[in-house]
Amino acid sequence: MSGVVAHYGRVRGVLDQIIESLTTMGLDPATGVDPAVLAAVDEFHLGGHEATMALTASLEIDSDSHVLDVGCGLGGPAREMARTYGCHVTGIDLQPEFVYAAEGLSLMTGMEGPTSFEVGDVTVLDQSDRAFDAATMIHVGMNVPNKPGLFGTIASSLRPGGRFGIYDIMRTAGTNAELGFPLPFAAAESDSHLASSDEYVAALTGAGLSVVHVIERTELVGRVIQRVAEGPTTPLNLGLVMGSEFPTMFANLRSAVRGGFVRPIEIVAEK
Ligand SMILES: C[S@@+](CC[C@H](N)C(=O)[O-])C[C@H]1O[C@@H](n2cnc3c(N)ncnc32)[C@H](O)[C@@H]1O
Repeated sequence: MSGVVAHYGRVRGVLDQIIESLTTMGLDPATGVDPAVLAAVDEFHLGGHEATMALTASLEIDSDSHVLDVGCGLGGPAREMARTYGCHVTGIDLQPEFVYAAEGLSLMTGMEGPTSFEVGDVTVLDQSDRAFDAATMIHVGMNVPNKPGLFGTIASSLRPGGRFGIYDIMRTAGTNAELGFPLPFAAAESDSHLASSDEYVAALTGAGLSVVHVIERTELVGRVIQRVAEGPTTPLNLGLVMGSEFPTMFANLRSAVRGGFVRPIEIVAEK
């Protein structure tokens, strides 16, 4: 686990770096920032904002919902859910630097009321005293070796009928190609715990959840990457969060997706 904390803790002062970049863009973080501007840096997964919206559309979230976001990172998905559905979102993440930044970005965007963030390891947290209406986990499972254990914890924190939406990079069944490292989620093979969608489904079912759907998002991701590449360049990017190796990490992931060795896949399950 310490490898995961170190991997996501490469940059000190993530929030300050973001504030500095916003200032370079002529924006004043003190007077408020449009959340859409932050999407390039606070939606830390393939397909960004669009993938978050695709996942959450089928979680039956409304303005009375309390949603748990497992491995929330800088809180972009949490803020987008709160903004779109009017719900409350609690985000939990292992990396204190990210949780601090998530709180700062929520303040900056006026979203400090409907979002709250906590430092914690979701594989050992006991959430059974809280009954969430829905849960999300976006690009986190690749860091978790014991998925049956994690899904059991999440299942016990959901109310009956509550939905759990996963959007992860998954190993394509039948391919054992060696991947290039570093990847955005792991510096080395030892911190990478990729699994196939069949393994996710088995772990979810074993945790007592029924799978609603499994959808591959490769096409959505390709579209978003193309649009970003054609759009204006912005000083806000994931290099501010992951440091100077980020372009190599992203290139390695892109080759693995293009080679068909891994795929971005969404799974929705219900308690
Ligand atoms: C690729 S980032 C995704 C962040 C966020 N879900 C998003 O999509 O913007 C993966 C996040 O998972 C967190 N993470 C990994 N393992 C975790 C664990 N066991 N408990 C809590 N957070 C974890 C990392 O600290 C990191 O912030």
